[in-house]
Amino acid sequence: MHVHPYERAWIIVSVALLMVFGVAIVVSSLSMGIQIPGLSARLAPVSPDGFASDEPWVRQLGPGRYEANVFAQMWAFQPSEIRVPAGSTVTFYLHSRDLLHGFKILDTNVSLMAIPGQVGKVTATFNQPGEYLIVCNEYCGVGHQAMFGRLIVEEPSATL
Ligand code: CUA
Repeated sequence: MHVHPYERAWIIVSVALLMVFGVAIVVSSLSMGIQIPGLSARLAPVSPDGFASDEPWVRQLGPGRYEANVFAQMWAFQPSEIRVPAGSTVTFYLHSRDLLHGFKILDTNVSLMAIPGQVGKVTATFNQPGEYLIVCNEYCGVGHQAMFGRLIVEEPSATL
């Protein structure tokens, strides 16, 4: 079969690009720890003393270290407001009470999917004081656009 030289060149370029993209996905997921949730992320892995894993809460683990157990549901986040002092490192555990939701903290790189039956986990440090909007970025029904929460990063002096 005759393949025109230009066509052959484009085929080579296309296949090479696909391979580059494939390698980039594998390398970035390995180096950044990106993965689909496994058995270890099934419901209720968090059960710190006095903090039920099926309820929303925010707790301090130590100086500048917090954990937040967050629930997404039609069409709100619980807790709807999370307050931490600037410089805090926060680990979020994200649950869904009904269907697929998103959890995107604007102006940060925190973005998770809330998958029913799974617990999403992400850790981030918030150095810049301010009010960060948390939005649902997965379409989840008629109230989707009204589904939001707030992360308030307080000036260190205003803490406690
Ligand atoms: Cu929840 Cu969109």
